[in-house]
Amino acid sequence: MREEVTIRISPEEIAAQQQFAREFSALDHRPKTYFIVTYGCQMNAHDSEKLSGMLESMGMTQADCKENADFVLHNTCCIRDNAERKALGNVTWLKEIKKERPELMIGVCGCMVQEPGMAEKILRQYPFVEIAFGTGNIHRLPELMLRAVTTRRRVVSVPDEQSTVIEGLPIRRESPFQSYVTIMYGCNNFCSYCIVPYVRGRERSRNADDILREVEGLQKQGVQEIMLLGQNVNSYGNDMENGISFPRLLHKIGETGIPRIRFMTSHPKDLSDELIEEMAVNPALCRHLHLPVQAGNNRILAAMNRRYTREQYLEKVNKIRAAVPDIGLTTDLIVAFPGETEAEFEDTMDLVRTVGFDSAFTFIYSPRVGTRAAEMPGRIDPAVATQRIEKLIALQEEMTQKVFASLVGTNETVLVTGHARRNENQLTGKCSRNISVNFEGPSDAIGKILPIHITAASKTTLRGEILKGD
Ligand code: SAH
Ligand code: SF4
Ligand code: F3S
Repeated sequence: MREEVTIRISPEEIAAQQQFAREFSALDHRPKTYFIVTYGCQMNAHDSEKLSGMLESMGMTQADCKENADFVLHNTCCIRDNAERKALGNVTWLKEIKKERPELMIGVCGCMVQEPGMAEKILRQYPFVEIAFGTGNIHRLPELMLRAVTTRRRVVSVPDEQSTVIEGLPIRRESPFQSYVTIMYGCNNFCSYCIVPYVRGRERSRNADDILREVEGLQKQGVQEIMLLGQNVNSYGNDMENGISFPRLLHKIGETGIPRIRFMTSHPKDLSDELIEEMAVNPALCRHLHLPVQAGNNRILAAMNRRYTREQYLEKVNKIRAAVPDIGLTTDLIVAFPGETEAEFEDTMDLVRTVGFDSAFTFIYSPRVGTRAAEMPGRIDPAVATQRIEKLIALQEEMTQKVFASLVGTNETVLVTGHARRNENQLTGKCSRNISVNFEGPSDAIGKILPIHITAASKTTLRGEILKGD
């Protein structure tokens, strides 16, 4: 069981940050601006909201683009090689802006910085980066900036071990009606392909009281939907002495009166009967479960260290569908894991056909240094990997069309998030199953939950019309 790991940011610290901002701005007699470029998953998106929150509490404002900002921060991801290359490529590009504006301050943070040896590489190969810090150190941003400015030296801060939960950071939320709420940090699962446990540390749950206080605050502000975040939300509370379980936490969050609750990600091995029961009875819980399966073959699942079989996965799918018949299931899939044969890949195809997911994120396996799978023999030819992923995507598109067709004629509740991208006269939002729905309606419907009758389906969205009351 863990020691007390929570660090609370005090009002005095916030005041100290504001003092720094005044000093920073005084340098050339104007308020400073920032721009954050975010890569990766919701965890990173939410970290960026906290980083923005800190920068704003320091008196800085968001620039309209990175070309105009005084401080540009890249919040990076390293889950696959292409994510990492993209981030590094874009950081390199900033060098050109810095040639014209030497006073520009450049920072790099996020999962990539947390990789072993990466901070040294940044110091060596990216001399124009002045601040680099890891995911366990985001609360130290103001202090690191101050050090960089006052000492005129480059500052790197990467914690060896991530074992804390930081509470009380200011948050600048991107949306007034949808909010992320982290419930736990880190991951203990060590799936053999995955770098997350190495860059985000071991599982740490937030205290339930802190989470509930945050949700109550959001509910009072009129937030309609919260997304609870964790790499494996099903093991929420396992690291605490008197922790409550994830289903129990969901129950208490439901009692705050927040209209909609989503969560991600659920590891199939830990999806409990208690959670299925809670999903069946809690009206605030959205009819959506993201349940990454990764592969449909038992040998591959074992080599991935996923700790469930294809049969156990399918059994859980059946159970949840029996309890919540209108649930939409989505998943993550990896093709071309080391040694994957054509027949083993076909097992993944077959599982996708059997389950009928609403949608799936599909990835070609990418070796990550330090993970067990990177040492495994049987690297798959990239041309074969591409063929497999294309086949899988085509099959999933077919399955998505079947699900969409089955929803035409039904009534859904939709949280209206804005105007449709392709047609400014239309509104768009997400139904409880997390599928996009477009329809005609007044702009003042944005931010509300409306009943919509589904009339048609396109490739990626549903179409519908507002259901009028009697
Ligand atoms: N914690 C979540 C997902 C984290 S990463 C979970 O366990 O489901 C998101 C997805 O990226 C994973 O589900 C997996 O499908 C994919 N992924 C992770 N590492 C990868 C790698 N090395 N190569 C390809 N895909 C990977
Ligand atoms: Fe990675 Fe597995 Fe943890 Fe998900 S559960 S973050 S895939 S190690
Ligand atoms: Fe997320 Fe990428 Fe880090 S997927 S946890 S930002 S490595």
